[in-house]
Amino acid sequence: MISKKTIEEVFNVAIIEDVIGDFVSLKKAGANYKGLSPFSDEKTPSFIVSPSKRIWKDFSSGKGGNVVSFLMEHDGCSYPEAIKYLAKKYNIEIIEKKDDSYNPQEEDEKESISILLDFATTYFKTVLHENANKDILDYLLSRGLDHNIINKFQIGFISKGSKNFYDFLLKKGYKKDVLIKSGLFIDGKNIFSRFNGRIMFPIFTLSNRVVGFGGRILIDDKKTAKYINSPETLVYQKSKILFGMNFAKTDVIKKDNCYLVEGYLDVIALHQKGICNVVASSGTAITSDQIRIIKRFTNSVTILFDSDSAGVQATHRAINVALSQDMFVSIVSLPSGQDPDSFSKNKNKEEIENYFIDNKKDFLSFFSYMSSISSSGPEGKIKLIKSIINSIALVPDMTNQTVYLQEASSILNIDVQILIKDLEKNKNKNKQKSPIPQQKNDEQIEKPSQEEQFLFKLLLNHGEKFVQINSTQKLQVSKMILQELQLDGIPIVFPVFARILIEYQNAIKKEEIITKDYFINHQDIEISRITSYLISEKYKMDNWGLKNIKVKKEEDILFSLVKEGLIRFKLKRISDLTNSILEKIPSINDEIEKKEELNRFSKLMNLSRNLHKQLGREC
Ligand code: CTP
Ligand code: MN
Repeated sequence: MISKKTIEEVFNVAIIEDVIGDFVSLKKAGANYKGLSPFSDEKTPSFIVSPSKRIWKDFSSGKGGNVVSFLMEHDGCSYPEAIKYLAKKYNIEIIEKKDDSYNPQEEDEKESISILLDFATTYFKTVLHENANKDILDYLLSRGLDHNIINKFQIGFISKGSKNFYDFLLKKGYKKDVLIKSGLFIDGKNIFSRFNGRIMFPIFTLSNRVVGFGGRILIDDKKTAKYINSPETLVYQKSKILFGMNFAKTDVIKKDNCYLVEGYLDVIALHQKGICNVVASSGTAITSDQIRIIKRFTNSVTILFDSDSAGVQATHRAINVALSQDMFVSIVSLPSGQDPDSFSKNKNKEEIENYFIDNKKDFLSFFSYMSSISSSGPEGKIKLIKSIINSIALVPDMTNQTVYLQEASSILNIDVQILIKDLEKNKNKNKQKSPIPQQKNDEQIEKPSQEEQFLFKLLLNHGEKFVQINSTQKLQVSKMILQELQLDGIPIVFPVFARILIEYQNAIKKEEIITKDYFINHQDIEISRITSYLISEKYKMDNWGLKNIKVKKEEDILFSLVKEGLIRFKLKRISDLTNSILEKIPSINDEIEKKEELNRFSKLMNLSRNLHKQLGREC
């Protein structure tokens, strides 16, 4: 774990416009900077960076936050990865706080392997460009790749008889242990190279580090595998890497879609044509970890598949994995016998994209299309219904699930209630089958109400300021809000807000003063995000108060704003609570319970009347 001290230093040192300026071209606009949103395809700049507030805001997508959340959104990296990136940029030493999972020796080994793989990549590239290997380069060119794309993907070649390569690396000072652990060599009676006379495709992480290779033989020959891949190593976990994601991520965000293909050359060929939002699982069946990588950048995945039977099976699996991660899935089937590489060969970008658009099916249409060509009659239809229900049952989000069920009902021409019953049965069956306890869905996070947002805008912007609450007493805004909320026992419901309140509570206990900067740079990324959002929004006070109170000083305005904000928040909560009681009451059979609920109801109504009076109106 990175120490708190390092994190603080990173936040202190990082210059937001400088960091973002590496990714977005920014122009000065008054006190702020402006640029084209990196999250959409806009023509007029709506992306703002505020150096004084140290936040950014993208009006086209509604996103915003601090310097770290920008890197997380833009590169899809984790919090520690973003901190490390900034530490490197500003030469800040990273001090690690040791925890159980941190093993310094393993970290050193990983670093040594990475350095070796970087070196090997450069070496393979040089070999590819040697005169003696002109035929290899010609082969790549003959497959339609040009020099730019060969360089972009850092494609290389390893000659035959690579014992020399091993000796060469030892001479360069690489340790035998590291050479073996890198996956480049196999340790048996003798040590020999895993790759021999193969075109080398480096496999990159999101931050462009090489973790392994796919090696293709030149001449297709039944006796040797067409591809040999690096094994899993300390730095390469196959289920967690997608080939091409490092090159695709920006376009995936822009297009809000990611194409999923099977092979290295499929990714590269589409890039060559200018279609860059494409990745491959390369060699392994797609995993949920891989889908979650895509989900960092988009909720929508389009599978480009080979229409042979292995292709159909792989696609079916990929659909299910994507659905179980709440992704929207479409499928484009290519003409029989074609993969994306061969398909795109004699076409230009527009022709390819048009085909993709014209042939795109959602997963329900895909299932029924496949079923219509493979079988007919009731048996085929039953099979189809079962497989659709099986897939829909995997979708965690209830709303999405309901929409799919309704779609399915109309496609299959079956009453939706019957499908729902089938789905329930299916879920129960799965529950019994699984010995592992089902993972609970994330807590349903509702959107905070307008009233709640308004109150927190005041709290975050003015929490540390004092207001005159009566002729003799002054009170800090944060204290006033906390006290008032405790008074009627009406708690905050939105989880991030509840966490912010706890922070204020602790600060008050310790007699510390915290301001919005503390929350903007908070480690809890949700807190940081919502703070930046709330403080960059203009106050919407169109029909908000101040009618009854004659005010002069700013402090007085603040007091009455907080007072009114609190009342409106409480009234909103009370109205939600009373509505839910009214809904519940008819289904309560127990008389005592019913009485209690009615009691609660009338107490809330009394409170509501009082609050309305305070607002200056009777009801
Ligand atoms: N693959 C593999 N091992 C093999 C064959 C295939 O790991 N022995 C993986 C590779 O990632 C490959 C993908 O499966 O890219 C698809 O295989 P295939 O369609 O046979 O190869 P292509 O990528 O189409 O390569 P090419 O066009 O050069 O034949
Ligand atoms: Mn191919």
